[in-house]
Amino acid sequence: MSAQLLQDKIALVTGGGSGIGRATCQILEREGATVVVCDIKESTARETVNLFRDPSKHLALMTDVSKADSVDATISAIVAKYKSPPTLLVNSAGVRGIGFLKSLKEEAFMNCIDVNLKGTYLICKAVANAMEKHGLKSGSFVTIASIAGVFGVEYNSSYSGSKGGVIAFTKAISKELIHDGIRVNTIIPGPIQTGMVTGDPEAIRQSLKEHSAIGRIGTPEEIGEVAAFLLSERSSYMVGSSVEVTGGYVC
Ligand SMILES: NC(=O)c1ccc[n+]([C@@H]2O[C@H](COP(=O)([O-])OP(=O)(O)OC[C@H]3O[C@@H](n4cnc5c(N)ncnc54)[C@H](O)[C@@H]3O)[C@@H](O)[C@H]2O)c1
Repeated sequence: MSAQLLQDKIALVTGGGSGIGRATCQILEREGATVVVCDIKESTARETVNLFRDPSKHLALMTDVSKADSVDATISAIVAKYKSPPTLLVNSAGVRGIGFLKSLKEEAFMNCIDVNLKGTYLICKAVANAMEKHGLKSGSFVTIASIAGVFGVEYNSSYSGSKGGVIAFTKAISKELIHDGIRVNTIIPGPIQTGMVTGDPEAIRQSLKEHSAIGRIGTPEEIGEVAAFLLSERSSYMVGSSVEVTGGYVC
């Protein structure tokens, strides 16, 4: 990719303090974007910014994507620093929810929905409204779903449900926001080597590899590169797409 791919763009990445979010931030910075790294853990967002060549150009913020006031404060902080909201957005904040249905607690179910689905809604809405307020008519949003949201994975019903919701939500808003010049697409990752899977027992990690045609778990960078492409004008005809990046994973 050209070093100018995302030059002069402001990109907001949620969940940018680790895993896929951090790798995506590093790739967007490499491609010339000014990157706002948000995470519920502010220290990890700061660590990501400190990996950049010129940290002072970028911004690390504590954002809880499941809380509207936190999301609004994030947009205000970005506008205060740059006099503009972001026009590029990657929703990587997410949590895993596990448990069999019959003993699944309502709070655990709702936590998954609140962060993964409601969080995506709150951030997309806030950035779209801020862009309109500032007269910005060109942008690109990427949501991060999961192959669990396509197949449905046992013991992961809250997670699978939230991610299936992200896929449908993305398609729906893509049809609205294209009229504002904003393209919205989703990435559907398969198993990726981040904190979300490294804690799994070796037997489960082995099974994830065996279910992937490629025979291995993916890297966060392999998702970040696709996110950068979807944010860029190189994907200008892509609207409401669900892009599977799974190494050929099948459940
Ligand atoms: N790793 C995988 O195998 C995999 C597969 C499919 C989809 N995904 C999705 O990719 C995204 C990134 O996950 P990851 O694998 O990098 O995991 P990760 O745990 O490394 O990163 C998730 C980040 O989200 C942050 N976060 C959690 N709750 C938040 C909140 N309320 N507000 C803001 N930030 C919050 C965490 O602090 C963390 O930095 C998630 O949406 C996840 O569901 C991951």
